[in-house]
Amino acid sequence: MLADRLRGIEGSPTLVLAAKAKALAKAGKPVADFTAGEPDVPTPAHVKRAAIEAIEANRTYYTPVAGIPELREAAARHLNQARGTRYEPSQLLVSDGAKHSLYNAFQALCQAGDEVLVFSPYWVSYPPLVQLASAKPVIVATREEDGFLPDPAAVRQALTARTKALVLNSPSNPTGAVIDEGRLKALAALALERNLMVITDEIYDALVYPPAAHRSILQASPELAKQTVLVAGVSKTYSMTGWRIGFAAGPKEWIEAMTNVQSHSTSNPASISQHAALAALTGDQGCVADMRRQFEQRRNRLVEGLSRLPGLRCQKPDGAFYAWCNVSGLGQPAGAIAAQWLEDALVATVPGEGFGAPQHIRFSFAASGETIERGLRALGAWSAKRGGKACRTA
Ligand SMILES: Cc1ncc(COP(=O)(O)O)c(C=O)c1O
Repeated sequence: MLADRLRGIEGSPTLVLAAKAKALAKAGKPVADFTAGEPDVPTPAHVKRAAIEAIEANRTYYTPVAGIPELREAAARHLNQARGTRYEPSQLLVSDGAKHSLYNAFQALCQAGDEVLVFSPYWVSYPPLVQLASAKPVIVATREEDGFLPDPAAVRQALTARTKALVLNSPSNPTGAVIDEGRLKALAALALERNLMVITDEIYDALVYPPAAHRSILQASPELAKQTVLVAGVSKTYSMTGWRIGFAAGPKEWIEAMTNVQSHSTSNPASISQHAALAALTGDQGCVADMRRQFEQRRNRLVEGLSRLPGLRCQKPDGAFYAWCNVSGLGQPAGAIAAQWLEDALVATVPGEGFGAPQHIRFSFAASGETIERGLRALGAWSAKRGGKACRTA
């Protein structure tokens, strides 16, 4: 009975695992939870205040589908300032989180027969988002030896007459890789040469750790803006995941088509959340720098601790808040290892299968210092119990 295009599409595995870890914690188990795809700090006070004021001022009605004009303007300014782009507010669509921005983009721009290039390891939702638009995700592998950075030569090899679009995600979830200027330029040249649409997901743009720096493909190649949808939002930058506000910027006609899709599905994003997002974008940015510093310290500690564990190999990520560990030295697929860690050590992680990478496990360091220490101790004990290497065979 189900629609053909839903074949093989399951719920987001990261959300399922996070829910499992939360349920264990609720049942009183001292779980060290590394599954979170969201900052653990509260939404900044001035943002919360703006939402309360919006409620009290009765800003509780439908808004324009694409978002309140002030927010479209603030989002355009925010993107332009950091990237040197020239988006007008009319080129911005505000949606229910960046995931929804991506959904609208694929729905409006892709169709049956189109191939969309997605780099692996990929964020779990890209392939289903492409499939929901009846298009075909074509996976282009990156290599651990290259720091999981996309290889323009591999992209060229994957091209066919049906290739419609290329999805970029820098900084990356799950690897934390930040794409450098040289690769961005090469990818942009290829996209221009083959008239590929580029969907660049820059939701983690504010979470890059020095000396690395975030670069958008639109800085590497401003002329690519005519065939690019840039996706960003407030979820990760301002610890506003539950408020559900993301935005997309692109050519006016594309944004209009995406707005039409949204108008017939979800209408406007919640009015109160829009006012909160406006306060986040226009208010004091000190909270962003504070969070970045905190995450950098946690990254350093977590990666250092994980690297000491036998059988694990872990590069230091340049961005986002994930440590991406190769567990092939433990002799079992990531899913089996993660299940044992949860069961035997009460350490919750996300195995790589859902990201197209069955030898890796993702640890979120959007977790408290105390959680990090407890998790490292538990994994150390788990490892020692197994003589430092072998895994129980399932
Ligand atoms: C790479 C990437 N893109 C988009 C999103 C979705 O963000 P939002 O919560 O704003 O929908 C996430 C969230 O985990 C993500 O990791």
